[in-house]
Amino acid sequence: MAKLVAPSILSADFGRLAEALSQLEALPVDWIHCDVMDGVFVPNISFGIPVVAAIRRFTKKPLDVHLMIVHPERYLSAFAEAGADILTFHWEATPHPDRLVQEIHRLGKKAGIAINPATPVEVLRDILPQIDLVCVMSVNPGFGGQKFIPYVAQKGHRLLRLREEVGSQALIEVDGGISLETAPLVPWADVLVAGQAFFQASDRSAFVEALRKATTRMT
Ligand code: DX5
Ligand code: ZN
Repeated sequence: MAKLVAPSILSADFGRLAEALSQLEALPVDWIHCDVMDGVFVPNISFGIPVVAAIRRFTKKPLDVHLMIVHPERYLSAFAEAGADILTFHWEATPHPDRLVQEIHRLGKKAGIAINPATPVEVLRDILPQIDLVCVMSVNPGFGGQKFIPYVAQKGHRLLRLREEVGSQALIEVDGGISLETAPLVPWADVLVAGQAFFQASDRSAFVEALRKATTRMT
């Protein structure tokens, strides 16, 4: 399967969001990754429902909404209404992941579960056939522009095997510190999120193509 690329809007210039989105519209990127942070689950606050709704107005690309918040169950329908296509909550943020997955599907959206770097992929064994996406965090969530945590590379290989074993169709996304240097470490990823490396690239179209190649080379 061709690798998908999802720029993280967190690294865009928020004062010129509409402009950034219309530029993205013309680029060979697949999804727009929206990082929602509440200052409680993670030590940073980014943006919430009204901003996701505004992003929706300026792009036709699928919105991949990454909820780094406590009590994600309280906000699923609001983010769905705001225009999210994929709703990803954190495994660590709820004792009831199955209930949330069911709720997201009831809302007609794709359901993703994100796991922090220190959370083993094996916790997902039973839920994996029920979900559409696993977001493997390769930094501790909270900030763009952090360094890729090397041991996450091994987790991805284990997740790939687990996915096969349980017969799941879930896409595997990697999020955090992805660049042309680290992409070869994640050949298992179907979806690459890139924030800083993407927005700092002088030729973003060339960057996306190079990123796809860099991660595919070792498979
Ligand atoms: C981290 C976020 C990531 C981040 C990616 O908490 O979930 O999506 O914005 O940005 P880079 O690619 O700069 O690490
Ligand atoms: Zn993210």
